[in-house]
Amino acid sequence: MAAAFRFADRMLAQLDALGRISEHSDFLLRTFLTPEQKAAHEQVAQWMREAGMDVEQDTAGNVVGRYAGAGADAPVLMLGSHLDTVRNAGKYDGMLGVIAPIACVADLHRRGVRLPHAIEVVGFVNEEGTRFGSPMTGSRAIAGTFDPAMLQARDRQGVSMGEAYKAFGLDPDRIGACARPPGKVAAFMELHIEQGPVLEHNNLALGVVTAISGARRHRVEIVGLAGHAGTVPMGQRQDALLAAAEVALCIERRCTGTPTLVGTVGMMEALPGAMNVIPGKAVFSVDIRAGDDATRDAAIDDVLGELAAICGRRKLQHSVTELYRSTATPCHPALMQMAEDAIRAQGIDTMRLPSGAGHDAATMADLCPIGMIFMRCTRGISHNPLEAVLPEDVELATTALLRFVEDFRPVR
Ligand code: GLV
Ligand code: MN
Ligand code: MN
Repeated sequence: MAAAFRFADRMLAQLDALGRISEHSDFLLRTFLTPEQKAAHEQVAQWMREAGMDVEQDTAGNVVGRYAGAGADAPVLMLGSHLDTVRNAGKYDGMLGVIAPIACVADLHRRGVRLPHAIEVVGFVNEEGTRFGSPMTGSRAIAGTFDPAMLQARDRQGVSMGEAYKAFGLDPDRIGACARPPGKVAAFMELHIEQGPVLEHNNLALGVVTAISGARRHRVEIVGLAGHAGTVPMGQRQDALLAAAEVALCIERRCTGTPTLVGTVGMMEALPGAMNVIPGKAVFSVDIRAGDDATRDAAIDDVLGELAAICGRRKLQHSVTELYRSTATPCHPALMQMAEDAIRAQGIDTMRLPSGAGHDAATMADLCPIGMIFMRCTRGISHNPLEAVLPEDVELATTALLRFVEDFRPVR
């Protein structure tokens, strides 16, 4: 049967194939420095080679495809997104932004087109931070902002990121060696599903991102006293989980009603974890974001103040570790305009919108001008296996990205 679309049929098959590379047979989970990361990267490397690119795994573990330009030394146009996933993930978050630029390069290659600058397509490692809590390792390494302190972060099995790097066959002391010199990357452009409902609500396939929210993530540990669930009277307990629950509700209260401010407790564990034992320890994550850093930081200060007060009242100990911090990042106005022109050239309308989600593009802003194109996803659902896209949107997104790539001129 003839393909209905120039790009989308093959791309959707590729996205399905990547979606099957999972650590779990019942749902999609592909985390940092695992055999599944290796398998997905090898698959992507093969597609990059077929598209006419030279491919390497860099010192951080990113898969990088390069399509040489006509000019020997012009700064490169970098495109890409991440290949890791959250737990029980959808198959478009991140992956779309790797597969689409490969399709664009394959098209240039087929037509024998060389642009003045090289194009590099990057499949980043560990954007999500699913395994160690600390995200953006691949893009931080390339942007030159990787913090070696992150190598101490541990997964649920107690394996540190540094140990996992060694077991994977990469040298943790050389992660930062793939940092690009300033001025050598002309721009970074990331295509991503919106992960929210705004484009669908406005009946638009594609949008241009104006700015990416800044996030901070903390790991909180509360320590009380484990005890017998049947014998210790309610008023005499030091139940760590109840304090954690109070903090989670306080986060909901503090983050409700302020535009762009959002707070999430996405992980919570009661220890030792038995039905008839009062939780002696609770460990949970706190992810707080806002469109501007001052709004976010004020909320975090209040939440940490409440945490101390709750633990004081309940006679519990607590400790807080910051795992990640990113500042709110604007996209470059000239890249926004180029993206908008490339979308409108498809004969469709578009809009500008901010990103509440974090992206590799925000990290790359430390190195070069950045831009993002958002593609509609069904009912705005993401970080969920129900994530879905329309083939016609994939086609439009890829033709718009190709147009952007062909029309790209370096910006100041
Ligand atoms: C990445 O998906 C994030 O925004 O946490
Ligand atoms: Mn994600
Ligand atoms: Mn993503």
